[in-house]
Amino acid sequence: MMDLDDLACISQVDRSDMKVLLRGFPRQCSQAWELFVDVPSFEQIAVCGMGGSAIGGDYLKIYLAQKGFPKPVFVIRGYELPPFVGDKTLVFAVSYSGNTEETLSCFEQALRRGSFLVALTSGGRLAQRAHEKGVPLISIPQGLPPRTALGYLFFPLLKSLGKLLNEEALEGEFQEALETLKGLAPLYAEAPEAENPAKQLARAWYGRIPVIYGGEGRTDAVARRWKTQINENAKSPAHWDVLPELHHNEIMGWERPELREHFAYTLLRDRDDPPKLRRRFDLSREILKERGGLVWEAQGTGEKTLARLLSLSYLGDWSSFYLAMLYEVDPTPVPLIEELKRRLKGS
Ligand code: PA5
Repeated sequence: MMDLDDLACISQVDRSDMKVLLRGFPRQCSQAWELFVDVPSFEQIAVCGMGGSAIGGDYLKIYLAQKGFPKPVFVIRGYELPPFVGDKTLVFAVSYSGNTEETLSCFEQALRRGSFLVALTSGGRLAQRAHEKGVPLISIPQGLPPRTALGYLFFPLLKSLGKLLNEEALEGEFQEALETLKGLAPLYAEAPEAENPAKQLARAWYGRIPVIYGGEGRTDAVARRWKTQINENAKSPAHWDVLPELHHNEIMGWERPELREHFAYTLLRDRDDPPKLRRRFDLSREILKERGGLVWEAQGTGEKTLARLLSLSYLGDWSSFYLAMLYEVDPTPVPLIEELKRRLKGS
């Protein structure tokens, strides 16, 4: 199996240089923090996007909820806007490529409904339609795999709402998050496996299906992000679920001894998890271990919400990258996603 400390082997497998993009993520966040539009008053927010372009909406949703923001945020992953989206809804249409048909469909519906629309994209048809219709456009750099553009796909959403939040506090949180990421980048990129939690997690997942559990409204969006990063970077199946809901169904799957060795469980916790959630995480770990399950835990670092959210997310990016290395697969290309998009167009 690959030696994760062997830089020559890593660069042989990481042919498209995802490591450089991961290492540069803090810089991307600084650049993305400069991008925003002014938004009018609204009653709710809908973020429309798919895959790597939707996760920024999830992060916005949990961040705002944790800050007590009084208006709801909906993340729409699909072709249809829900009926409640109307002229009092702030709609962010987010597509890294600008050519994702589900997002374009929502964009057109939001236009017809008179929503306050903002397009966030690196180009494509979405940029073109925004220009044609005079829709505010946040342009982000081209040429990245969407999932490595999380800074560009999240911060402009948050920054655009900055005036509705405590701007000074938000700026402070951002600076802390940035410093935290800058501190983690060399650890995840360069530390040897014995000291590198990202390499250790990848090693634990290798040969198994990673199962990632998050806490409702806290780390659930990060659990989803980890799952999708494992799928796309390592070309591996993965699964995610959320506490407390999973205690009402998923937990029964832990009883199947014949399948147990095929899964590796990772619990995503947060320092500020409320006591009831903490108890449920503790019990999950206990019950899984009693049944011989392989369990790891991970937690974000930093004082404030934003730092903890992004640092935990960043660990998943790196762990999925190292899992790709262990499977000796280039993390960047996603040929099956592209083939499916091509076949959809042809049909
Ligand atoms: O990571 C990926 O490549 C995908 O998950 C894409 O983000 C997804 O297919 C949507 O495409 P786009 O981000 O260009 O709208």
